[in-house]
Amino acid sequence: MLVLTGIGRDEAEQWTDALAAAAPDLEVVRGPVEDERERVEFALTFVPAAGEMAGYVNLRFVCAGGAGVDGILRDDSLPPALPLLRLVDRVLTARMSEYVVHAVLHHHRRIAHYVAAQARGEWEVREQREGTRVGILGLGALGADAAHKLSVLGFRVAGWSRTKKAIPEIESFTGPDGLRALAAQSDVLVCLLPLTPDTRGIIDSALLAELPEGAYVVNPSRGGLVADDDLLAALSNGRLAGAALDVFNEEPLPAGRPYWSHPNVAVTPHVASRTDARSAAPQLLDNIRRARSGRPLLNRVDRDRGY
Ligand code: NDP
Ligand code: OXD
Repeated sequence: MLVLTGIGRDEAEQWTDALAAAAPDLEVVRGPVEDERERVEFALTFVPAAGEMAGYVNLRFVCAGGAGVDGILRDDSLPPALPLLRLVDRVLTARMSEYVVHAVLHHHRRIAHYVAAQARGEWEVREQREGTRVGILGLGALGADAAHKLSVLGFRVAGWSRTKKAIPEIESFTGPDGLRALAAQSDVLVCLLPLTPDTRGIIDSALLAELPEGAYVVNPSRGGLVADDDLLAALSNGRLAGAALDVFNEEPLPAGRPYWSHPNVAVTPHVASRTDARSAAPQLLDNIRRARSGRPLLNRVDRDRGY
């Protein structure tokens, strides 16, 4: 039995339909399961209730309903040996790159200026930016794809990751010195890091101070990567041209928070890349077959690293 739990109602419906179409024999239930919990073998979840996973004593794996697993790992009662999987999916990746490319072009082509000028009914031409350099924090499944697509568009792209990368056309940085060097050459800084104890609050006043004057920050990763007061200060004192933010320390972003009304901030409600259950269902089903036949599981998270 597979339990769908800790995901929105719409997502649960999409997964139920996609799994019914692809694997009609698989028993799928919506959680939290109260009766016959011992029959639950697999869980797909995003932010489960604290202790819920530990209550399914025959679980063979937990799979995240998306790419990030921070919402699952924050539950201390998750049994240490329980395999944790995540989704690496073509549609998820493509959607994220669309968001990132759009945000970079929004800054590069000064779209905020023209939208505001239209609202005033003013025909006000600004000089076209040239040679915009993009720095991407995180060159994993999502960061590497966005880097490639931006590079094809002609942007000079660099990335920062834990391990050195050899990606054609993309300059690779690692370590604390590499982070500062990358920031210093990033007219647009894109964050596609997972939220872990090592990355929490990484976009702070020290990092923002390394960015070139008038830089733009794009964060579709997790709100916890940003020190909000530091980012708001850099936006308000004019060091930054603006920011595109899809994720927040508190979600939904509460009414009245400064990001909502900041003229240079583009807020979206954690929609940079929503999972497409039809596209991702085959990998979940593959992992179920693998677990049942004792073969290695795919897209397994290193729980010590946190991603
Ligand atoms: P991956 O695990 O594939 O990539 C993570 C990248 O971050 C890797 O390049 C990794 O380095 C790097 N990294 C991790 N920790 C560190 C560190 N301490 N220092 C330097 N580099 C580090 O993740 P994905 O690309 O699949 O996803 C990234 C995040 O995007 C997710 O965790 C999630 O939070 C967010 N997301 C948001 C969505 C939205 O709709 N807003 C949708 C989907 C994802 P290395 O390669 O060396 O291991
Ligand atoms: C994800 C997300 O991590 O949607 O996939 O945030």
